[in-house]
Amino acid sequence: LRVRAVIIAIDGPAASGKGTLARKLADHFGLPHLDTGLLYRATARALIDAGERLDDAASAVAAARGLALTEFDEARLRGRAMGEAASVVAAIPAVRATLAAAQRGFALRPEGAVLDGRDIGTVICPEADVKIFVTASPQTRAQRRALELAGRDEPADYAAILEDIRIRDERDSTRAIAPLRAAPDAHALDTTALDVEGAFAAALRFVPAGRR
Ligand code: DC
Repeated sequence: LRVRAVIIAIDGPAASGKGTLARKLADHFGLPHLDTGLLYRATARALIDAGERLDDAASAVAAARGLALTEFDEARLRGRAMGEAASVVAAIPAVRATLAAAQRGFALRPEGAVLDGRDIGTVICPEADVKIFVTASPQTRAQRRALELAGRDEPADYAAILEDIRIRDERDSTRAIAPLRAAPDAHALDTTALDVEGAFAAALRFVPAGRR
């Protein structure tokens, strides 16, 4: 008798550390990982490359349909501008519906999965075995982002990054569809005072002993 594969859903605001945590959990359990923010970023990128408006729903849906789940050129999707653009297309309901199917397909793979995003525990995988809602103070998140950019020799203006984080939190939490919100059964993980290893150790404790 085989235990059903585990699904781990990780949600949280921009630069909360959810991506790093998701990758570490996926490595630890040998599970495939999907960073769902990349889907919204790639949709925004395709629109920009085609010279279309980010708020044109019909073009945005066509762009979302055209994505290949496994082929992301991450270098062209990372960065502030693309995060902002992703947050705009992510507010279009028909885009979310299109991308939801791909995300559910990934989550329901027989080997299990780790997904991170904004609405994984609430909308995409309400049946996930483990849900974690990762937060950190806006100041801490801005500091981490600034360090990360400086490490890549990119311009890193702390005040601008903090402002960006506030704008994105506001848009992602107040949109009408699938807003950033903790599922009622999610474990809250505040990483403000934790480093990467500390956050990972805390997250592991949320996974039932029989599935660790
Ligand atoms: O996690 P990220 O910074 O790569 O996400 C970029 C934007 O995409 C984010 O500001 C909102 C949107 N997003 C979303 O609405 N739902 C998700 N599951 C993931 C991302």
